[in-house]
Amino acid sequence: MAKSAKYRSIARLYDILDLPFEYARYRPLRPKIWIGLTGRILDAGVGTGRNMAYYPEGAEMVGIDLSAAMLRRAAARKQRTATEVELVEGDIIATSFPDNTFDAVVATFLFCVLAPELQSPALVELARVCKPGGEIRILEYAISGNPIRRFIMRLWAPWVRFAYGAAFDRKTERYLPTAGLRLIETRYLHGDIIKLLITRHA
Ligand SMILES: C[S@@+](CC[C@H](N)C(=O)[O-])C[C@H]1O[C@@H](n2cnc3c(N)ncnc32)[C@H](O)[C@@H]1O
Repeated sequence: MAKSAKYRSIARLYDILDLPFEYARYRPLRPKIWIGLTGRILDAGVGTGRNMAYYPEGAEMVGIDLSAAMLRRAAARKQRTATEVELVEGDIIATSFPDNTFDAVVATFLFCVLAPELQSPALVELARVCKPGGEIRILEYAISGNPIRRFIMRLWAPWVRFAYGAAFDRKTERYLPTAGLRLIETRYLHGDIIKLLITRHA
């Protein structure tokens, strides 16, 4: 199923389905993703706007998403957010933003829903719209090194693929060089299963 159709069908339930994970895992780590970022910032794959409460004060935020249904929920959340945010419907593989539009780009749980063949094109596009020297931060899942945790993740994987079109093991860092990006740091924000990749133009 195409990603826009998948997220159209789950948009209504997305925040409810994700609620236990949002509270237990994502809420504590979301503020850390944005530390130190300023200026015009792209939230790539903004979804229902779960990052909005943590956007840096004074930043000029733009959120893009493929799914109009997810964006409708983001628009509702925007009403309750202090920071100004512009929402755009579009595919991250080919956006209409001019080169070097953003001081920084952040993508949380976007690359885990992008198939392997879309990882490079998406990174190339993020690199194009981000100014040289700006950071591109990517929050992703990783498969745990702990055998029990790894086993549980393997049990969950079919549901995650079915419900979100996502996978835990996209290994996005492998594709960074193809987009002319350099990995500055990998920061684990929840055990060894959620990592923030901090990247820049090589
Ligand atoms: C798992 S959700 C994450 C949402 C949000 N970033 C968060 O942290 O809660 C993935 C989002 O990426 C969007 N998406 C998937 N493929 C996309 C693409 N090619 N371009 C833009 N957005 C896309 C989906 O519509 C969905 O809203």
